Amino acid sequence: MAFTIAIDGPAAAGKGTIGRALSRHFGFAHLDTGLLYRATGRRVLTGLDPVEAAQSLRAEDLEADDLRTPDVSQAASRVAAIPEVRQALLDFQRAFARRAGGAVLDGRDIGTVICPEAEVKLFVTASDEERARRRHKELSDGGHTATLDEVMDDLRQRDARDSARAAAPLKPAEDALRLDTSEMTIDQAVAAAVAEVDRAK
Ligand code: C5P
Repeated sequence: MAFTIAIDGPAAAGKGTIGRALSRHFGFAHLDTGLLYRATGRRVLTGLDPVEAAQSLRAEDLEADDLRTPDVSQAASRVAAIPEVRQALLDFQRAFARRAGGAVLDGRDIGTVICPEAEVKLFVTASDEERARRRHKELSDGGHTATLDEVMDDLRQRDARDSARAAAPLKPAEDALRLDTSEMTIDQAVAAAVAEVDRAK
């Protein structure tokens, strides 16, 4: 039976960590939809047209190892403002969401546009400082050299662009549960998310 968990929120708020934990806990498939925009943005940096880059995206494009760098993040957020790019990625996300056995999708417009009928909607946030600290650590652990200030600038610029755009802007669905993870450990945030899914099942 299809069961969809939609997780939205600003950059580096913990959506991916919570999404992966929920998918393990409930045995659901997980899709980090930001990867679709990152892989598209990365291809555009190599000279492709954004809409063609989105339309011809392949599974192996999602596995490039520099998808989390600030340059690719910025390119992702720029292509994500183009309605035809979003349209090209829509059917894949909707089909993933309704697969038998349950699905967790995280992104910016999952609860509002991709899966307005999702059984569970979470809107995950954290303070700017906490988000920058987490993303900076993730990048450093992966051997990248971006400074904390560069990471903070990237997050703030993307959140502003993602929230202000006309096409599927970043905003909570009216029926989303809001989860501020600034003061939470990963275990606490995951426990709160699991409890919300259990309530809806
Ligand atoms: O989630 P992540 O930070 O990896 O997403 C990268 C960028 O992709 C975001 O800044 C946003 O512009 C875009 N995005 C989007 N809609 C989604 C997921 C990501 O517009 N569902």
